Amino acid sequence: MVSRSRHGAGVAVKPTGDSGPPRRRFLVVALLGLAAVALVEYLGVIVDFLRPRRQRTSGDAVVVAGPVERFQPNSVSAFPEGKFYLVRLEDGGFLALSRVCTHLGCTVPWSTEEQRFACPCHSSTYDIHGDVLSPPAPRALDLYPVRIENQIVKVVTGTTIRRNSFESAQVTRA
Ligand code: FES
Repeated sequence: MVSRSRHGAGVAVKPTGDSGPPRRRFLVVALLGLAAVALVEYLGVIVDFLRPRRQRTSGDAVVVAGPVERFQPNSVSAFPEGKFYLVRLEDGGFLALSRVCTHLGCTVPWSTEEQRFACPCHSSTYDIHGDVLSPPAPRALDLYPVRIENQIVKVVTGTTIRRNSFESAQVTRA
């Protein structure tokens, strides 16, 4: 574009374009808007992270296993819905063993023939008390508390007892 000076000489004027400043303003506003949205989302994530979680309330979940006499001494009964085995020991006491391997969490089946739990993943084995017979399992199978009320065996599946090895105090007797 060429404009005329007072003396009639042509002076080159750099075209600024009418849309330049508004477009720039629009971009600035858009970027600020995006930054605000990102900041709000970021704050939302932080607030969500810091908000106290509700405790799991499964602590009193109970599976009624059945009457004491249903379980023979030296037997292992699977309760797949409760994810445990109910063991009745030779002396009549009860243990509820988690079926989760303490190595990497595979489900451990009971072998009646071999009288032991044998993990299919990395070959750990456990005896009827849940004690480790062969590694890599680092510790005994977890326990669930057992209650016997009116000769009915109940297992509290909401509470897991972590242990290193079997102790007689872990046994519940009728
Ligand atoms: Fe059972 Fe590895 S998960 S031995």
